[in-house]
Amino acid sequence: FKDSLLYSFFGGGKRIRPVLMLMVADYVKVKKDDVLPFALACECIHVHSLVHDDLPALDNDDLRRGLPTVHKKFGENVALLTGDFLLNCAYDVALSDCNTPLKIESVKVLSQATGSLLNGQYCDSVVKSAKTVDDLLTIYTNKTSALIRACFIIPLILAERRDLIDDFSYFADNLGILFQITDDLIDYSENSNVIDDAELNAINILGLSKTLALKRDIEDNCYKICEKYSDFQLLKYFVSYISERTH
Ligand code: IPE
Ligand code: IPE
Ligand code: MG
Ligand code: MG
Repeated sequence: FKDSLLYSFFGGGKRIRPVLMLMVADYVKVKKDDVLPFALACECIHVHSLVHDDLPALDNDDLRRGLPTVHKKFGENVALLTGDFLLNCAYDVALSDCNTPLKIESVKVLSQATGSLLNGQYCDSVVKSAKTVDDLLTIYTNKTSALIRACFIIPLILAERRDLIDDFSYFADNLGILFQITDDLIDYSENSNVIDDAELNAINILGLSKTLALKRDIEDNCYKICEKYSDFQLLKYFVSYISERTH
């Protein structure tokens, strides 16, 4: 079991979510020790979602980060349990030093984000009925933005800076969508400009030029917040990092 857990967790992930949470914590002056369990929990939830997302019952992918997926390497039964174990680890670590009402509230933020993520995955993989750009954005906001949003909200709760929650939730929602649309464009170019009709991809719904225009709009939404919080320098570097990603 340890082998599959280590393989999934240390398989070359970019650690975007914990890095974001630590950045926000630094901005609002939350102690690293207070936020680290939540940052680690977010990464556990994320990796759990990837291990299950790759399973034959969902996306049926053979490769993740250039390596065989967990079920390809260890079998479907092991991958299923590895994902479950990672999700349990998230709450184990988040509750490890959970000794204040603000920390308990933060655990609730994590569980609500995970609920949204799973709802988004259900709509993506089971309902498969996205026809309009609104349908698409709703799914992306759930499956990708929700956990990123938690990475912003948790440090804000711990710092009692609820006044920032609206702006940074808006930023996180747009950042998640930007992430997912960039992913769609990468999939399109990596697959010789062909996307299976059954796959949820902005290009299937909007075509290429409208997808590129949507990406610019979403990027502008992010940059508006960056301008408003110009003392939070790292925010705008993160937008360009997400947006200019090519693989
Ligand atoms: C990939 O997320 C899956 C989505 C949420 C779209 P990341 O690109 O953050 O995954 P890793 O952990 O860095 O591989
Ligand atoms: C991955 O989503 C899992 C979540 C967003 C929860 P995708 O299926 O869109 O992403 P990749 O292409 O497998 O990384
Ligand atoms: Mg998927
Ligand atoms: Mg997938």
